Amino acid sequence: MKILIVGGTGMLGSAIAKELSPRHEVIIASRKGDVVCDIASEESIKAMFAKVGEVDAVICTTGKVHFDDFSQMTAAKYQMGLNHKLMGQVNLVLLGAPFVKENGSFTLISGIIGLEYIKTGSCAAMVNRALEGFVKGVYKEMPKHIRINIVCPTIVSESMELYGALFEGFPSIPVSKVALAFAQSVEGSETGKIFPVI
Ligand SMILES: NC(=O)c1ccc[n+]([C@@H]2O[C@H](COP(=O)([O-])OP(=O)(O)OC[C@H]3O[C@@H](n4cnc5c(N)ncnc54)[C@H](OP(=O)(O)O)[C@@H]3O)[C@@H](O)[C@H]2O)c1
Repeated sequence: MKILIVGGTGMLGSAIAKELSPRHEVIIASRKGDVVCDIASEESIKAMFAKVGEVDAVICTTGKVHFDDFSQMTAAKYQMGLNHKLMGQVNLVLLGAPFVKENGSFTLISGIIGLEYIKTGSCAAMVNRALEGFVKGVYKEMPKHIRINIVCPTIVSESMELYGALFEGFPSIPVSKVALAFAQSVEGSETGKIFPVI
């Protein structure tokens, strides 16, 4: 399969590329990747698909949200998460569907925040659950029998140094386990499914 990973240079994306590249042609996209894409810009998403052409699968492992105490949050801070992690991925599906082959797939990313309470995580919680709602709300209407799933991981061990303070008391998982959930989504036959990796 020809598989496009948006955010493929990051912690999750590079582990997925490592898992899938022995079996498939993997194309990495990011703001500074082999193929340039900024999911916050519709023009950039369009330019990426124009360059890459038809693919069998699109994976997204990027999306920013704003972390802050609720008392410090503003509409603009919530909007940043909505524009980036939520609408960035929705736009990837909207604009990318014409470039995904019959029976192809999209696999998006959410996360544990919102299933579990994390201090400063209200924006992440809102966006993660909205993304899963989008997948549950759209999968039966996808064109060309394209499948769509979403992976919902807890914190990965390799990210504990960066984000560990927010996740005290949480068991972490190796990033390779998250990569397997993406492989299951891409190589399997499920659609409309949330893959928890917790
Ligand atoms: N790490 C975890 O433990 C964990 C757990 C659960 C969920 N998640 C979720 O998984 C996603 C990825 O996390 P991560 O830890 O792998 O992040 P990361 O290591 O920071 O990687 C982010 C990736 O996204 C790319 N990127 C950043 N902004 C972009 C944009 N506007 N358009 C396109 N690509 C962009 C980056 O490359 P460039 O800088 O070149 O653009 C990089 O490839 C996030 O949404 C996060 O909430 C992570």
